[in-house]
Amino acid sequence: MGIPSSCRCCSYNGGMRIGPYLIDPPVVLAPMAGVTDKPFRLLCKRLGAGLAVSEMTNADPRLWHTRKSLQRMDHVGEPEPVSVQIAGYDPAMLAEAARFNVANGAQIIDINMGCPAKKVCNVWSGSALLQDEPLVARIVKAVVDAVEVPVTLKIRTGWDRQNRNALNIARIAEDNGIAALAVHGRTRADKYEGDAEYDTITAVKATVRIPVLANGDVNTPQQARHVFDVTGADALMIGRGAQGRPWIFREIAHYLATGELLPEPEPVEVAAILLGHLEQLYAFYGELAGVRIARKHLGWYAKDRPENAAFRQVVNRAESADAQLRLTRDYFAALAAGERLAA
Ligand SMILES: Cc1cc2nc3c(=O)[nH]c(=O)nc-3n(C[C@H](O)[C@H](O)[C@H](O)COP(=O)(O)O)c2cc1C
Repeated sequence: MGIPSSCRCCSYNGGMRIGPYLIDPPVVLAPMAGVTDKPFRLLCKRLGAGLAVSEMTNADPRLWHTRKSLQRMDHVGEPEPVSVQIAGYDPAMLAEAARFNVANGAQIIDINMGCPAKKVCNVWSGSALLQDEPLVARIVKAVVDAVEVPVTLKIRTGWDRQNRNALNIARIAEDNGIAALAVHGRTRADKYEGDAEYDTITAVKATVRIPVLANGDVNTPQQARHVFDVTGADALMIGRGAQGRPWIFREIAHYLATGELLPEPEPVEVAAILLGHLEQLYAFYGELAGVRIARKHLGWYAKDRPENAAFRQVVNRAESADAQLRLTRDYFAALAAGERLAA
């Protein structure tokens, strides 16, 4: 289905530019470690995401040759632009990681200053960096100078609610050549608790001239329009709302452009999307790891319907690709038949 690209009733006006790339629709899959692998990125792009950011890759070169890192650096066949997130704390190491990833196919480098995870923050990276503004400047400059491709930055609104320094960080980002800035409307101390707040994102957007992506708690087309309206952001970034609902991108783009809600996808379409996703996971990770990784996606696809608890239990027991596919196919066939009977 074609996605119209402007709207008369809200600030949505088509694509956003990141360097030479037009991101249209300006609705972006957020980087999520353990989630936004190549199969999921391809799926979200096919279903309407204008851009899909990779899982974070560690800037420490000692970790680049693990199986996990090599899988994360595989971008073969991925539609342009390929955006790769790097995480670390040392400007020179991050610059080298940026160069390495560009040589491996990255067309946009995204720097992670948004992740609150202990694993990341204990080594003084992710959102912990927001506490040290001079270091932020050094990192941004080092990475921007290291590569020819656009560099984007992902931040939270600050360290904690008493220290919402997103405006300072945004100015630093702009002054040092960042091509677009994504702001998650929580502080690091908030983790994922409470509701995202958009006032700080609005202030950031009013302060800098580089494109701003608003992030946090956008799970429906109506919320998307609200966040565009209140922040004036150039794009939205969606994380958890895409888990088990990769079609959220086309739903949002359609609503922004027309003011109309698309109908929920029919079970038969959900089944086709899900079975295709499972096949991609097996092909990418191999059967054993693919079946294991597929379980969390199956859980997310099933989360919206109460009857799906039973499905989750059954399908989680499948140990082979064949069994996982068969149980999934059977479940959706029964669901579609039930809906036909009820109609
Ligand atoms: C499972 C998971 C993994 C995440 N991993 C990353 C990451 O690697 N890098 C990053 O910048 N943010 C990461 N995030 C944060 C998301 O990109 C996003 O900022 C956050 O989930 C808020 O958006 P949402 O409300 O749309 O989910 C992660 C979030 C989740 C739920």
